[in-house]
Amino acid sequence: MEIKTYLDEQKTLVENALARYMIQSGEAFADHIETLRYSLFAGGKRVRPILCLASARMVSGSADIDASTLPIACALEYIHTYSLIHDDLPAMDDDDLRRGKPTSHTVYGEAAAILAGDSLHCFAFDLLSHPDSSRIPANDRLEIISVVSRAAGPLGMVGGQYLDVVNEGREISYELLRTIHRSKTGMLITASVMAGGIAAGASMEQRDRLSEYGNAIGLAFQIIDDILNVESTTEQLGKAAGSDAKRGKSTYPALFGIEKAKKMADEAVAEALRALETFSETAEPLRGLARYIIERKK
Ligand code: IPE
Ligand code: IPE
Ligand code: MG
Ligand code: MG
Repeated sequence: MEIKTYLDEQKTLVENALARYMIQSGEAFADHIETLRYSLFAGGKRVRPILCLASARMVSGSADIDASTLPIACALEYIHTYSLIHDDLPAMDDDDLRRGKPTSHTVYGEAAAILAGDSLHCFAFDLLSHPDSSRIPANDRLEIISVVSRAAGPLGMVGGQYLDVVNEGREISYELLRTIHRSKTGMLITASVMAGGIAAGASMEQRDRLSEYGNAIGLAFQIIDDILNVESTTEQLGKAAGSDAKRGKSTYPALFGIEKAKKMADEAVAEALRALETFSETAEPLRGLARYIIERKK
């Protein structure tokens, strides 16, 4: 199947689940819940949930696992969407456009945007403990919660966002840049792949391979995000192009130049494909996703 058709199909599956699991509220909270919906349904690529589902199916050998994995996949998208709302705040990257629409704080104000992020974050953990996943053994579910919370927390996404923001305008070492990319973006991507694998009962050997694959595509993903920020347009991206240079962000293109950065992303994807060598054709979707990450235009 063509990657585009596959991604469209998976995106629809994820979006239907996101709508199904969305919090129902009485009148008092309706405006707050609307702020969550606004960002969640603004049209993201849904890469993290799609990775989670693909990984689970690869390990289990069947799409029957979807029913148990979908709440977990949605939880990852909730955490990711919260991180974007906060990433765009004036105190952070101060961006006005996200997913082709005005950012949460420009529409609802900063307090409402911060709280939308907070609620999405909490609700993600509610979904990680959803009864639809009850066929997954309890110890595996606990491990998924542990993997996801570590990836999102102080040594993961939040810690990476901190390092990204405090190092604006500074020259930093390659080692620190790699740490920032790995923590702010790579770890949640790896957690998405791992969560799917664990949900499907992956062996230790399979978990190691999935973790290598996730780390490699996670790095490639952020390098490409940085390259697109230089080479693409705001219209194409649905978010501000050229913003990294304006804010003095440390990025792969800034440190190595565009060509070398592209080569490094290619190498990371080759490494991801090597990690999947021992898997059969059931790994094709994950292989396709790795290639898509460097070919994407937004
Ligand atoms: C953007 O993530 C922020 C990064 C971590 C690089 P995505 O490129 O996955 O954004 P959406 O979800 O498609 O909007
Ligand atoms: C986003 O990094 C990482 C997270 C939201 C965790 P960026 O700030 O580089 O992403 P964009 O370019 O705004 O999407
Ligand atoms: Mg940022
Ligand atoms: Mg940003």
